[in-house]
Amino acid sequence: MTKNIAVLVSGRGSNLQSIINSIESGYIKSSKISVVISDVEDAYALQRARDHGILDIFIDPLSYTTKQEYERDILTVLKDNSVDLVLLAGYMRLIGKELIAAYSNRIINIHPALLPSFKGLGAQQQAFEYGVKVSGCTVHFVDEGIDTGPIILQRCVPVLDTDTARDLAARILEEEHKIFPEAVKLFVEGKLKVEGRIVVHTLH
Ligand code: GRF
Repeated sequence: MTKNIAVLVSGRGSNLQSIINSIESGYIKSSKISVVISDVEDAYALQRARDHGILDIFIDPLSYTTKQEYERDILTVLKDNSVDLVLLAGYMRLIGKELIAAYSNRIINIHPALLPSFKGLGAQQQAFEYGVKVSGCTVHFVDEGIDTGPIILQRCVPVLDTDTARDLAARILEEEHKIFPEAVKLFVEGKLKVEGRIVVHTLH
């Protein structure tokens, strides 16, 4: 059975692109991106979706009085499109209780640092300024905290003496584009089992 994926975005959408490419190339099988939802009207990610014939929807958070109402509309779109898995690919908002409950262990986020270090915004800059010698990226299930959910995959990159924060961010992004599709592949193949905080990778 084909898994329907929704991708939530706010910006340029390079991680969305890596998922699109991985599905189109057959690396991720039996899956379809059913909808891309953005909270930013002119997010380039929406254009990427259109370029690949994927339904793209802008939902304006500012037109709602509460986050709950905003997310109820997101949930309606997810249900209408029979979405099985939600990916946060540069989506710059915290997910609320109801949405998490509706998609428990079915929302996955990519974060540009080795969690639990450097949570929240500007993670690459935070790591750079702290002076770490390695950083990287993390793909994890989303819970109610900020970047606190069970970790699916992580990848390290070195921080070089000659790096600027931008160099580091670029090196991390390259790895993001590999481990996000890898994690999605594992998920759609039913190879991820969440046991408390621990994500076990099963063989089949
Ligand atoms: C990525 O660095 C991702 O890890 C973070 O936001 C950035 C989004 O970039 N959550 P893009 O929109 O996927 O290009």
